[in-house]
Amino acid sequence: MKKTWWKESVVYQIYPRSFKDSNGDGIGDLNGITEKMDYLKELGIDVIWLSPVYESPNDDNGYDISNYQEIMKDFGTMEDYDRMLSAAHERGIKIVMDLVVNHTSDEHPWFVESRKSRNNPYREYYIWREGKDGKEPNNWGSCFSGSAWEYDKQTDMYYLHLFSKKQPDLNWDNPKVREEVFTMMDWWCKKGIDGFRMDVISMISKVPGLPDGEIGKNGYGSFGPYVCNGPHVHEYLQEMNQKVLSKYDLLTVGECSGVTVEEAKKYASLDGKELNMVFQFEHMDLDGGETFKWNDKKIDLVELKQVLTKWQVSLMGKAWNSLYWCNHDQPRMLSRLGNDSDEYREISAKMLATCLHMMQGTPYVYQGEELGMTNVPFEKLEDFRDIESINAYHELVGGKVLDDASMMKYLRYKSRDNARTPVQWDDSPNAGFTTGTPWIMVNPNYKKINAKDQLAREDSVFHYYQKLIALRHEKDIIVYGDYALLLPEHPAVYAYTRSLDGEMLLVLCNFSGKEQDIQALCEDYKEKETELWISNYENASLSRGKLRPYEAAVFYFPAK
Ligand code: GLC
Ligand code: CA
Repeated sequence: MKKTWWKESVVYQIYPRSFKDSNGDGIGDLNGITEKMDYLKELGIDVIWLSPVYESPNDDNGYDISNYQEIMKDFGTMEDYDRMLSAAHERGIKIVMDLVVNHTSDEHPWFVESRKSRNNPYREYYIWREGKDGKEPNNWGSCFSGSAWEYDKQTDMYYLHLFSKKQPDLNWDNPKVREEVFTMMDWWCKKGIDGFRMDVISMISKVPGLPDGEIGKNGYGSFGPYVCNGPHVHEYLQEMNQKVLSKYDLLTVGECSGVTVEEAKKYASLDGKELNMVFQFEHMDLDGGETFKWNDKKIDLVELKQVLTKWQVSLMGKAWNSLYWCNHDQPRMLSRLGNDSDEYREISAKMLATCLHMMQGTPYVYQGEELGMTNVPFEKLEDFRDIESINAYHELVGGKVLDDASMMKYLRYKSRDNARTPVQWDDSPNAGFTTGTPWIMVNPNYKKINAKDQLAREDSVFHYYQKLIALRHEKDIIVYGDYALLLPEHPAVYAYTRSLDGEMLLVLCNFSGKEQDIQALCEDYKEKETELWISNYENASLSRGKLRPYEAAVFYFPAK
């Protein structure tokens, strides 16, 4: 396989609003990121993915952009941005920008024009349709509740918004839209950025006719089959690649809801015609159900192994994977897949990290994951800030699909806000995030879980991530080795191998709080010459034949 820097990198995602506030207004900002650049250098990451920092009215925390070439006032100025970019580059850290171009804000000048009249030159920049029998043009529901259509009185037509009504969808079938987006991307590339994370990029091409979808519990039709991996998406990405991406040396990752393995082979093919890699959702959707993500179901390990193995094996030698447990749209992985009790918090955080970071693909660390940050004990609806969570509460409780107590329990478990509370820097008020009032509550556990403590302790989660990242930089087998699953039916142990040129790695992870007997598996390996590369316990050994609660260990077997 061809060696490239983005296959060998570890990416760290920053959600700027919650990372570090430098001026006491309670909102994280660019100068805050610059302040913490040495911290990131110490962790050892190669790339920062910056969630949107562009001008935005913040209906969806910056994922609703009103000017792609200006910085959001809350976050600072373009000078602050340039300073941050240089501070990163001076330390050998690359910056990947979030590209949100499935939609804009309704306050973007294109949309302000577009809604003015039916023959405005910007009309075709968006997706406008006539109503049907005095109702919406079709039955699609928006990702953030309610209809995906908003009626606009001025021209007596509806516009499409797959997300909030302040996020109208762009019409990618219009070549002018594509040109505008490509020109804007080129402008950022010329500035010296190092790549793009492309927001819901699998949804930019809609099936003509926009057919009704299957009705769900909320009473709306699902747009998925007519929007995800639509008819022209690959054509448009290839055009983007030719006109922009191929001219620079970039990391590109597409957020691809609804992506299948077969589709991923097109998006992220190693021939480089479209993107470097995709974010797939199959492992994150395993605990979904009738009321979408809103439940407190636990992910089944056997199913998780099946899904991740399918992605590992099917893309091998054909396309490239991205590896993640968490981001700004998911609850904290530690509370979802691990164990956030005092007893096992750090051990299980390290186990989850081991399991992910030893796979093939580019790993993503979400801010605070390296500290073992957990879900948040939100008390009431007013504690939440996220539009998805708040709207879902009103839709499902208001519509009597769920009762208040259940929905509050589900929000506490699954809300995106779990990942969006401030990074816990130290044990001073507000976790050292701000001297003002934070825009969203700080997790009260910051006195015990914070970066200051983590940095001071050799056995911390932070130092474990540091070691995992360093290992990946040193060892080709972690980056390029082939993956194979062991014990597929084991309900509590995730075991797999990686192999490259006769060398082998054995990765063992216990996903449970109970000791697990793996005697039979160990028999096959224990006589062989081996080296222990990393473990979250003292004295990990194959001769024990058992994995202790949440134990993880990686054994290396040299080529003979
Ligand atoms: C993506 C983002 C999410 C956002 C949505 C709409 O899924 O990751 O945060 O709400 O797109 O832009
Ligand atoms: Ca600030």
